[in-house]
Amino acid sequence: MTAAVTAAGATVAAASNLRPLLEVRGVTLQYKTPEYLVTATYRVSFDVYRSDRFVLLGPSGCGKSTLLKGVAGYMPPVEGEMRLNGQAITRPGADRAMVFQEFDQLLPWKTVQGNVMFSLLSSGKIKDRRQAEEQALRYIEKVNLTKFRDAYPHMLSGGMKQRVAIARAMAMEPEILLMDEPFASLDALTRRKMQEELLQLWDDIRFTVLFVTHSIEEAIIVGSRILVLSPHPGQVKAELNAHQHGHSSIGRAEFTSLQRRIHDMLFSDRIEEQESKTHG
Ligand SMILES: Nc1ncnc2c1ncn2[C@@H]1O[C@H](COP(=O)(O)OP(=O)(O)O)[C@@H](O)[C@H]1O
Ligand SMILES: [Mg+2]
Repeated sequence: MTAAVTAAGATVAAASNLRPLLEVRGVTLQYKTPEYLVTATYRVSFDVYRSDRFVLLGPSGCGKSTLLKGVAGYMPPVEGEMRLNGQAITRPGADRAMVFQEFDQLLPWKTVQGNVMFSLLSSGKIKDRRQAEEQALRYIEKVNLTKFRDAYPHMLSGGMKQRVAIARAMAMEPEILLMDEPFASLDALTRRKMQEELLQLWDDIRFTVLFVTHSIEEAIIVGSRILVLSPHPGQVKAELNAHQHGHSSIGRAEFTSLQRRIHDMLFSDRIEEQESKTHG
């Protein structure tokens, strides 16, 4: 009897792992005013599974940020649909948290700890101040900023500000973390360090992230899967596996050949067949 219950439970768990956390189906997103109509993405489809590090890669203007806005619930598609945990995305929610490229995304009048706590309390994620403080400090520690918990944003470097933004988003314990070129304004060395730290955090927490970049190298290092988008309007060119690559594989033959393959793809007009998916 116990065995039967366990077996049934295992089947349910396996089934829920097989269903994508985020489903994006034939999504067209447009900016419409009386004066103009801009199609930012055209019939884009992809699936993000739990613990994926899913990267949207494409040239500037191909609609990456617009896709994130769509997933965040700020922009309804004119065509297609987006589902999170099987529920249609119709509005923003605490199950999604954003990290942006800009260093000014923090509240300048609040400390590091104040910024993280503010998100928790104002969203209603945590109502008790004491609990919010504990949760904030837990995530501030994960990004190695405990010593700076009482510092104000203007006292921090660009990299440190981005760490705070990451801690603030992660403290919300969202279903999916949305990151829009979070390291693009950092110098090369800091950028690399931040990529490493993000991967270490992922090893620790196994969160799900939808990560936007226009850097091929960053996509291969950070991503477990990469969706390559064509220039304006963004259409899916290919979906690739990259989970076997990290900083240590830079310069190796496999890394370089994937880099070249993506490069050629971005500069050609071909739409490649989707690679077979390896999940579960
Ligand atoms: N608020 C807006 N109003 C009108 N057009 C916009 C707006 N935001 C972005 N766009 C246009 O939509 C397209 C996609 O932009 P975006 O999603 O920002 O691209 P990416 O993030 O890939 O650089 C671009 O052509 C851009 O000019
Ligand atoms: Mg953008």
